[in-house]
Amino acid sequence: MQNTQTSGPVRIGVIVGSTRPGRRSTAVAGWATQVASRHPAVRDGAGAVELVDLAEQHLPLLDEPVPALFGDYRNPHTRRWAAVVDAYDAFLFVTPDYNRSIPAVLKNAVDYLYAEWNDKVAGLLTYGVQGGTRAGDHLQSVLGEVRVTVVPTRVSLGLFTDFDFSAAPPGDPTHQARLAPGDEREQALTTMLTEIVTWATALRTAEVAADRRPEPVG
Ligand SMILES: Cc1cc2nc3c(=O)[nH]c(=O)nc-3n(C[C@H](O)[C@H](O)[C@H](O)COP(=O)(O)O)c2cc1C
Repeated sequence: MQNTQTSGPVRIGVIVGSTRPGRRSTAVAGWATQVASRHPAVRDGAGAVELVDLAEQHLPLLDEPVPALFGDYRNPHTRRWAAVVDAYDAFLFVTPDYNRSIPAVLKNAVDYLYAEWNDKVAGLLTYGVQGGTRAGDHLQSVLGEVRVTVVPTRVSLGLFTDFDFSAAPPGDPTHQARLAPGDEREQALTTMLTEIVTWATALRTAEVAADRRPEPVG
């Protein structure tokens, strides 16, 4: 599967990678889309960013009889998810560290598909006590298996450095905390978005040049 379109803005799906009640991923993904909206490529129409919330996909634990590699999707929820992923050229994955890896819901969402991920580009935005770096390492490895290229710049938010717990009632483990990333995080995210748009554009060009996909007529 090549990138969805050979012209127009690079479409970037911001994948909200956790689904538990009280999750922090929505705040992190919201911050990412805000930063993206200020990015020159998005402002000039070279890139477009949309949220893809796994909580809205309602995917059961993988229930396809045939491995995704064969592209023989049997279930309506799989075909719906395939159409969602197919519509994007690139992804910005937002994931926390769950026991040194990514949430099961995110791994499950990746496992469902194959061709729709192929030859796409991704950036990793992680968070956790140690910035979610172990989740990032695992996700990069998983994405390599479905032929997604991960750009070099990663953004890691520390739970006790980039979130503000000052308003948290003592001993309340459910407190969401206010997301308060430093300027250097925004700079890193901007660099990552530049890399995503650049690499996704380059992949489109390479695909057209290789004549793997004809240019649309008209
Ligand atoms: C099941 C579970 C396992 C976790 N394991 C880790 C971990 O290994 N390392 C870490 O830094 N934080 C860990 N945390 C803390 C999470 O990174 C932090 O709570 C984060 O906000 C969870 O993401 P969410 O709010 O989007 O669900 C864990 C949290 C949960 C719920």
